[in-house]
Amino acid sequence: MEISLERKFEDKIAEDLKIEPQDWMPDEYRKTLIRQISQHAHSEVVGMLPEANWLTRAPSLKRKIALLAKVQDEGGHGLYLYSAAETLGVSRDKMIEDLHSGKAKYSSIFNYPSLTWADMGAIGWLVDGAAIMNQVALCRTSYGPYARAMVRICKEESFHQRQGYQIMLTLSNGSSEQKEMAQDALNRWWWPALMMFGPKDSDSPHSEQSTRWRIKRLSNDELRQKFVDATVPQALFLGLTVPDKDLKWDEKTNTYQFGDINWDEFWTVVKGDGPCNKDRIQTRIKAYQDGEWVREAAMAYADKQQDRSSKMVG
Ligand code: 3HC
Repeated sequence: MEISLERKFEDKIAEDLKIEPQDWMPDEYRKTLIRQISQHAHSEVVGMLPEANWLTRAPSLKRKIALLAKVQDEGGHGLYLYSAAETLGVSRDKMIEDLHSGKAKYSSIFNYPSLTWADMGAIGWLVDGAAIMNQVALCRTSYGPYARAMVRICKEESFHQRQGYQIMLTLSNGSSEQKEMAQDALNRWWWPALMMFGPKDSDSPHSEQSTRWRIKRLSNDELRQKFVDATVPQALFLGLTVPDKDLKWDEKTNTYQFGDINWDEFWTVVKGDGPCNKDRIQTRIKAYQDGEWVREAAMAYADKQQDRSSKMVG
């Protein structure tokens, strides 16, 4: 008896096998993957901006080189992810257009300003730390190209997180002004980092289906909790104070209980009214327009190569 395409898909998911681009998949599975992967890619590319702001002001050549490498890595992560999304049939131009028009989202965290050099430490430590928590789980996502892109990205993210934490360690062990700068950065980036994991599970419209399809392997709240439990001891080692008066260790659950997240702030930023939303999109649109000549030259070269090889074959 011929089993349906739907059943074949469901069986592959149940057996934890990867769904590949050439496999049949439900339209909704394809749609939510395009949504998530393209927004992940947008987050990587927009995420280059807060750090790029400090490239010319890094305190030493060593710090500048590490930050430059990180920012370049993020651009590469964006390209892997745009390519993974393209395997689902969406064009690069459409994804970029959706970002520029405001139709597509990117991670809320990148709409906060990077005010001091210590922010480079807090971003690497907290933002990349949170991204790693989420992305390690995504290495097991059911869509093949996405899972494979994550493996490479996670390797590079761990360098990002380490270089950020190293900056915080230097500042925390430095002068009182440096320690204050590190504490100020932790105060400003802690809660927005917790918001990166998305709304509470009970307020997440996509989680149930994404979990059923094994796109999501751990829930928003589970990943957030893992991040808090891993990061609070790191803050204590730095001699810094996590800006949460309700934070306390729970012997029974072996986890940290933490205070309420300001969900009004989260949705305000997600909806486009954060401190830097408009500036980030304007900067992306200008960079895209300024890069037109590069894309044209690359396409012209590719066409010329194509002509040459078809003449040789002809
Ligand atoms: N910022 C902006 N929008 C967010 C958000 C956030 N932090 N968290 C959730 N949202 C949006 C969702 O996109 C969704 O809106 P949509 O339907 O228009 O797409 C809505 O809020 C409801 O959220 P859900 O939890 O139901 O949505 P998901 O199931 O998609 O879960 C997610 C949200 C956990 C972010 C998931 O999409 C995901 O795991 N994405 C991949 C990882 C990712 O994008 N990380 C962003 C950071 S990348 C990064 O930090 C780069 C690093 O190198 C620094």
